[in-house]
Amino acid sequence: MSTLIDAQVAQLRQQLAGADPLDILRAVAAEFAGKAAFSTSFGLEDQVITHLIFAHNLPIEVFTLDTGRNFQETYSTWSKTVLKYGKTIRAYFPDQDEIAALVERQGPNGFYESVDARKACCNVRKVEPLHRALAGRAAWITGVRSEQSANRTGMHAVDWDAGYQLFKVNPLLDWSWEQTWAFVREYGIPHNPLHLQGFVSIGCAPCTRAVKPGEDFRAGRWWWEDQSAKECGLHATADTPVEAASPATVATP
Ligand code: ADX
Ligand code: SF4
Repeated sequence: MSTLIDAQVAQLRQQLAGADPLDILRAVAAEFAGKAAFSTSFGLEDQVITHLIFAHNLPIEVFTLDTGRNFQETYSTWSKTVLKYGKTIRAYFPDQDEIAALVERQGPNGFYESVDARKACCNVRKVEPLHRALAGRAAWITGVRSEQSANRTGMHAVDWDAGYQLFKVNPLLDWSWEQTWAFVREYGIPHNPLHLQGFVSIGCAPCTRAVKPGEDFRAGRWWWEDQSAKECGLHATADTPVEAASPATVATP
């Protein structure tokens, strides 16, 4: 990280210390005028952030990466959200030629065969489209929370993402799962019905299952793999110190 970026990260962290998610979003919209974007997968955390952006008319683009393998419930949450707020959610899709080559190479469900095959699928369906979505952006807002995984415990509300060369902002980083639910209920925010069936972290349908009380938040993602391999590449490039810590477990899925 250059000294200049270092200083800007430090200044933003100081400015936003103790700020609530809405204040963080307002500050980011002002600091990175027209160049801040929020990525949503329509999970509970994302729905809170989408609500704040849309209800307060913040000039932040909301986009999603449609992998083509999402749950029908995720698509219905997307539809409900667009209808409720009357705002645009921009969709980025995988490159058609890359998908065709991937499926020819490893079949439509090759991701179950090896970690490499799974990462190849995540690369084509999520990481490459994310690169396109973030091109020209200065700030990327996400719904990451620190209790989701040990890797995420080491993140900050503002980080420099060396891979994407932009500021990564996590307004809900310190929120608990219970706090997120309470906000969604209080404001009647549309949410993925799968959350009520034990699904906590929701990604693509073939790679996500429900979790049991006491399991990690991400236990239902790529459940057949080693714990250590369980990031899809979207959040693997941040230039942040990753401290060893145990992720929280789910009390009430
Ligand atoms: S993942 O890397 O394992 O897939 P996770 O599902 O925990 O990520 O979501 C964390 C954050 O990454 C979300 O709050 C959202 O900002 C972003 N994200 C994940 N998947 C997508 C997607 N398909 N489209 C847009 N953003 C996404
Ligand atoms: Fe492919 Fe599964 Fe990754 Fe979705 S989560 S992009 S289906 S490997």
